[in-house]
Amino acid sequence: MTLTIAVSGKGGVGKSTISALLVMALAEKSGEVVLAVDADPNSNLGDKLGVRVEKTLGDLREDLLKKADEIPAGTSKQEFVKYQIQLAMMEGSSFDLLTMGRPEGPGCYCYINNILRVFLDALVDEYEFVIIDNEAGMEHLSRRTTRKMDVLILVSDPTKVGVETAVRLHDLAREMEIKIGRTMLVVNKVAGELHPAASKLIDEAGFDEVIMLPFDSRIEELSFSGAPLTKLDHSSSTYRQIEGIVRRIRS
Ligand SMILES: Nc1ncnc2c1ncn2[C@@H]1O[C@H](COP(=O)(O)OP(=O)(O)OP(=O)(O)O)[C@@H](O)[C@H]1O
Ligand SMILES: [Mg+2]
Repeated sequence: MTLTIAVSGKGGVGKSTISALLVMALAEKSGEVVLAVDADPNSNLGDKLGVRVEKTLGDLREDLLKKADEIPAGTSKQEFVKYQIQLAMMEGSSFDLLTMGRPEGPGCYCYINNILRVFLDALVDEYEFVIIDNEAGMEHLSRRTTRKMDVLILVSDPTKVGVETAVRLHDLAREMEIKIGRTMLVVNKVAGELHPAASKLIDEAGFDEVIMLPFDSRIEELSFSGAPLTKLDHSSSTYRQIEGIVRRIRS
């Protein structure tokens, strides 16, 4: 059974950073190839994982719409789509990355989407772990693009807006009755004590688990120099904490 982990939260709080670190640590600890899904139209998970994305699923969808009648003779539409999906998968050493890219433009995508869904569902089933880095805000939850989430990781920074957004997402996910195994709040970039009002909001929200991740100047440095997070020292305290999250996810 695939374990699906969805990462969500306000803009800029560290969703992609935490997703990338989790992909690395999960792969390392489990010895399995992890499927990383970049579901943010403003994709950058590939950069953080140190792989160059040449084709997104959004590009692929457009290509399929345009080239529906250019499918090579002797190839079925299904085979053609399967081949194209493989083009949109980037293979790292311990993970595969699927970048969703831009959303649909105007046009009739039903047929293509139906074929894609069948293949994507089958693809996801081949992995032990799938991590989905979502776009900021609530849109992705209301669109119900995710089938199920074994773990919903809500990322926040130590600000009022960050925590409020995480709490709202938590409430929304519960209201929408999306099948969720458990919820984790990661308060990221923590420097010092949380404001008592933030702690109160968090306590009242009823997350299954709450984890504090410190501000790490090395992460900021890597980000400024355009280097991937694979360069982060695995003995650093942040990486160790990410390994702690992985242990909880797998327990
Ligand atoms: N623990 C941390 N310590 C220091 N800097 C961090 C930490 N986590 C994330 N950052 C930095 O914060 C910035 C935003 O991080 P990231 O891109 O992961 O956020 P995001 O939530 O995915 O943003 P977006 O909403 O734009 O997708 C980046 O410059 C990143 O390097
Ligand atoms: Mg991001």
